[in-house]
Amino acid sequence: MDGLNMLRLPSLIAFLTTWSLVAAHTVVTYPGWRGNNLITNGTTVSGAIPEGSLGINYVDGQPSYPYGMQWQYPCGGMPMSRNRTKWPVTGGAIGVQPGWFSGHATALFYINMGFGNEPMNYSHNLVPVFQIAGPSNSFYHGSFCLPRISLPPNVTVNVGDNATIQIIETAVHGAALYNCVDITFAEPEDVPQVNRSNCENSTLQGEKIGFNLLYTTPNQESAAPLLLSGSNSFLALLPALAGTLAASLWV
Ligand SMILES: *[C@@H]1O[C@H](CO)[C@@H](O)[C@H](O)[C@H]1NC(C)=O
Ligand SMILES: *[C@@H]1O[C@H](CO)[C@@H](O)[C@H](O)[C@H]1NC(C)=O
Ligand SMILES: *[C@@H]1O[C@H](CO)[C@@H](O)[C@H](O)[C@H]1NC(C)=O
Ligand SMILES: *[C@@H]1O[C@H](CO)[C@@H](O)[C@H](O)[C@H]1NC(C)=O
Ligand SMILES: *[C@@H]1O[C@H](CO)[C@@H](O)[C@H](O)[C@H]1NC(C)=O
Ligand SMILES: *[C@@H]1O[C@H](CO)[C@@H](O)[C@H](O)[C@H]1NC(C)=O
Ligand SMILES: *[C@@H]1O[C@H](CO)[C@@H](O)[C@H](O)[C@H]1NC(C)=O
Repeated sequence: MDGLNMLRLPSLIAFLTTWSLVAAHTVVTYPGWRGNNLITNGTTVSGAIPEGSLGINYVDGQPSYPYGMQWQYPCGGMPMSRNRTKWPVTGGAIGVQPGWFSGHATALFYINMGFGNEPMNYSHNLVPVFQIAGPSNSFYHGSFCLPRISLPPNVTVNVGDNATIQIIETAVHGAALYNCVDITFAEPEDVPQVNRSNCENSTLQGEKIGFNLLYTTPNQESAAPLLLSGSNSFLALLPALAGTLAASLWV
């Protein structure tokens, strides 16, 4: 998605929405992923988190993920893959199914790139952060795909160079789920065609995913007395304000 497309999305001041507990998980539908990291194992027989758990536990040298593997930075617990996939040297598509497990009525998405065979960092943003609005807070099949993601500005890559695309979905309570796909840059004609068979926004009832643009505004001095007046705190006023904005923007 380019910046202009993002700006045409229905806008909503996303931080004002109602929070709830989530356990969202992501599947990268295009161009693939390092592997299945939807694993949640290592809980006790009763299903509880082991006492003193650090999120990743080792039993006889075997890792287990009582909270779930996708919470591990930077790539959801998955090592660099041997099966790199080709991605156009001019930029390409990313498709995601965001709704594995319940609790992802909304989620923030970050898509980043790390360069080299084993990136030292994933500091290069590919798209501005955006929020999805899922069809429900339960598991859903819907997916979305951004067909034309450009490379970061001022980055030049050559055919044959390797990089890793990192996709982060932050749950509404702020915790981040990680997924990566290892790519090799290729001429666009050497990459399998991107079309509706592998890159689509779901349109079926109960699978549609909306997009919310995120932005900030400077603190308006003139609004401060309004927001701080009366016996309520600023925070107490936020839900009412959110309702007003949502109603006026979702038309
Ligand atoms: C790479 O191989 C793993 C393990 O077989 C598989 O789960 C994953 O989907 C593959 N990734 C790509 C991009 O082909
Ligand atoms: C947890 O799952 C991972 C990935 O499948 C596996 O390597 C590991 O052995 C499992 N750990 C336990 C304690 O079952
Ligand atoms: C991130 O890694 C790249 C190499 O891929 C390096 O050139 C760059 O300086 C690093 N940036 C930061 C902020 O560490
Ligand atoms: C790209 O590089 C040019 C020249 O060095 C610089 O002026 C510009 O700010 C850079 N753009 C970004 C987004 O870093
Ligand atoms: C990219 O990765 C592939 C497969 O892992 C490797 O064979 C190739 O040498 C790497 N390319 C570069 C430029 O390091
Ligand atoms: C869509 O792309 C796939 C390869 O990615 C290709 O096999 C298929 O023929 C294409 N479909 C159409 C209608 O062009
Ligand atoms: C999916 O929707 C986004 C946001 O409107 C848009 O940028 C993107 O191009 C759409 N994807 C497809 C495959 O049409």
